[in-house]
Amino acid sequence: MNPVLAELHDKARAVLDPVHYDFFAGGVGDEIVLADNEAAFRRHALLPRVLRGKGNSAEFPVLISPTAFHKLAHPDGELATARAAEGTVLVSSMASTVPIADVVAAATGPVWFQLYLQPDPRVTEALVRRAEQAGCEALVVTVDSPVFGRHRRDIANEFHDLPSGLAAENMRDLAGVAGPRDIEMAAFSWQDVDRLRASTSLPVWLKGVLHPADAVLAVGHGVAGIFVSNHGGRQLDVVPAALDALPAVVKAVGGRVPLVLDGGVRSGGDIALALAMGASSVGIGRPVLWGLAADGEAGVHRVLGVLRDEFEHVLAMCGGELSHDMVVARC
Ligand code: FNR
Repeated sequence: MNPVLAELHDKARAVLDPVHYDFFAGGVGDEIVLADNEAAFRRHALLPRVLRGKGNSAEFPVLISPTAFHKLAHPDGELATARAAEGTVLVSSMASTVPIADVVAAATGPVWFQLYLQPDPRVTEALVRRAEQAGCEALVVTVDSPVFGRHRRDIANEFHDLPSGLAAENMRDLAGVAGPRDIEMAAFSWQDVDRLRASTSLPVWLKGVLHPADAVLAVGHGVAGIFVSNHGGRQLDVVPAALDALPAVVKAVGGRVPLVLDGGVRSGGDIALALAMGASSVGIGRPVLWGLAADGEAGVHRVLGVLRDEFEHVLAMCGGELSHDMVVARC
């Protein structure tokens, strides 16, 4: 892990209520996937190319993945994250503690809206309108959560509800059918994705695809892109590390839509590995929360800054370009 990220993590742990720290840090089950997401990067290495005569002009291929309840990390909550994001795409969680319109107003770069489809289609519809009216540039539908993940830390801590004064603000006053804490899970199908696409002109991404056959279906159903993600090890503890799931999805999709790899990205080298293995960009979850808890907007800004700096350095070392033939197993 980049040492600045490690420092921010330590500071976050020190300042956060331990129950909230566990909510952010924890994973599902025995937390095998949580650990493996990071470990997977250590199982791969890059063979740099030399004498390519190329400079380093790459974009910063990082998005802020959606994470819930930023006001648990810092009183400014999602407003601080949005201000710090600058040009980085912020995927704002449906479960944010600031309404999406305020997140977009505070942001200086593009904001995408992460959506859990709701059992009552009127609620989904109202959320989509809110995201559109706020000025979000894409919808990211999270599909790996047919039921809530069982987080042992939260169960042991009896963390079931937000402290008073905080709420999932996007759920407020939804046509009188939902309360602020009424995000629900249910079984959805590809027809629901079709229906969503037909209801909006915004590009629709899917988040939480691991099986290559689902990636192919997603392309067939017209999605704009896919997050290859296991929800940061928070949904099912028998899945592969996100990075290990990536190659089969890359092969199946064959470049037809962009792929975001999220889970365990903690350094510029990790970003480079994911790109060399076929991701178009990566998403980061917990490091943003550590920056936010440690130092608000400045902390998130620092997280993005060190990753940008480290990625550019690694890319320059690799000859300015990353490709699959450069990836080898670390013995
Ligand atoms: C998440 N994640 C998540 N995903 C999503 O689609 N909607 C959400 O509301 C949340 N909330 C959330 C809360 C917390 C505390 C965490 C840690 C994660 C998953 C998130 O978008 C992303 O997939 C992972 O966090 C990526 O893994 P890393 O970078 O945290 O290892």
